[in-house]
Amino acid sequence: MLLKRLVIASTALLFVCAISVNSYGANSVRELCASSAKEFQKINRLKGYFPEELTDADYETIGKAGGTIKANEIERVQKFNVDANTKVISELVQTHAGNIEVRAKGDKVGLIEEVGHSYRFLFLSCRSCHQVYMTEAGLAP
Ligand code: HEC
Repeated sequence: MLLKRLVIASTALLFVCAISVNSYGANSVRELCASSAKEFQKINRLKGYFPEELTDADYETIGKAGGTIKANEIERVQKFNVDANTKVISELVQTHAGNIEVRAKGDKVGLIEEVGHSYRFLFLSCRSCHQVYMTEAGLAP
């Protein structure tokens, strides 16, 4: 009887653990950033093509990548300890990633150029947060 209860209890515990791992996305800033970096590289690669070389699926990939990066930043602010300054930088990332997400669904004329423009702001926004951490670690002026 006790054994049976123990088995049920541990099964339930495992189940709860499995759910919480799945539904809360990244478990660390590192994991979160690794996810964004993957999406960032997709945009980086595709923005290098001429418009006539890109397919609808490519535009969809770009849009989804922007959306994922934005969602990751929202998750960062909600879940990890972000102070007011860091939050502002995260919002920069959200803005530029969001612009990419929206623009990728719009008119194809000028699309890839405008994504490239937002991408450069996105690049600098991601980097400014890393710069702050590096500076605080005494690694850069
Ligand atoms: C608000 C601050 C902040 C923003 C915004 C931010 N990062 Fe990071 N990032 C960090 C911190 C802090 C680490 C170090 C995490 C660690 O090693 O514990 C990191 C680490 C990384 C790493 C190394 C991950 C690894 O596996 O070691 C990559 C790659 C990265 N970030 C990419 C990005 C990209 C791409 C963006 C923008 C889309 C971005 N980050 C935006 C704070 C930020």
